[in-house]
Amino acid sequence: FAPKLLQGKSILLTAGPTREAIDPVRYISNHSSGKMGFAIASAAAAMGADVTLIAGPVHLPTPSGVKRIDVESTQDMLNAVMQYVDNSDIFIGCAAVADYRIDQIAEDKIKKSAQDMQLALVRNPDILATVASHKPRPFTVGFAAETKDVEHYAKDKLIRKKLDMIAANDVSNPAQGFNAEQNALKVIWANGQQDLPTTDKQILAGQLLTLIADQLALLKDDK
Ligand code: PMT
Repeated sequence: FAPKLLQGKSILLTAGPTREAIDPVRYISNHSSGKMGFAIASAAAAMGADVTLIAGPVHLPTPSGVKRIDVESTQDMLNAVMQYVDNSDIFIGCAAVADYRIDQIAEDKIKKSAQDMQLALVRNPDILATVASHKPRPFTVGFAAETKDVEHYAKDKLIRKKLDMIAANDVSNPAQGFNAEQNALKVIWANGQQDLPTTDKQILAGQLLTLIADQLALLKDDK
């Protein structure tokens, strides 16, 4: 990595899954391991950034030089993000955030009965869109995990969530994306895009951060 590329920049990022409780012993979640987000945190610190990592429940050690805050639910993750957003130059939403949560978390363990059961779900807040509409906002980078029409859905998220950049991954391939050692990204911004081919998440993290640093320098030149 270029060791000084992000010197003086504060980076806030999310990683891992969120976990939505059903009752005291059960939850809804997804297969995110946190590896992609932790690789970005580690690479950003190596590039000289001041890094705050908001992590969902994962089994990974904290990268050296990174400030880590552990959370469980989407609402917890949003609260932690909003606590740090004002002091951040760059926000990267790499977490696989649960779009829905249980409407009423049961206080006691739900007992099984002879009947089928249904769970009522309500929409969660969108952390990325909340950051993107915050004023003043950091340079805001989203991820898009798609199983088809990757570029189409990623461009839609870039525009709809008003992002500066989006990094899309095709998670239909088990060798990349969720809980894999490698990944490939299609990175898209307002007037450009670049494919980052399959490689180790650590290497990809450095390549993504270099693209972000390039765009930040370009934005500054425009002013
Ligand atoms: O953790 P790993 O095992 O290494 O896997 C990495 C990964 C596949 C999880 C990662 O590369 C990735 O794609 N992360 C985003 C997963 C995701 O939730 O994508 P999405 O397309 O559903 O969401 C789009 C964006 O909105 C994401 O930046 C997400 O963080 C954000 N979001 C989504 C919902 C919500 N309620 N709030 C959000 O902020």
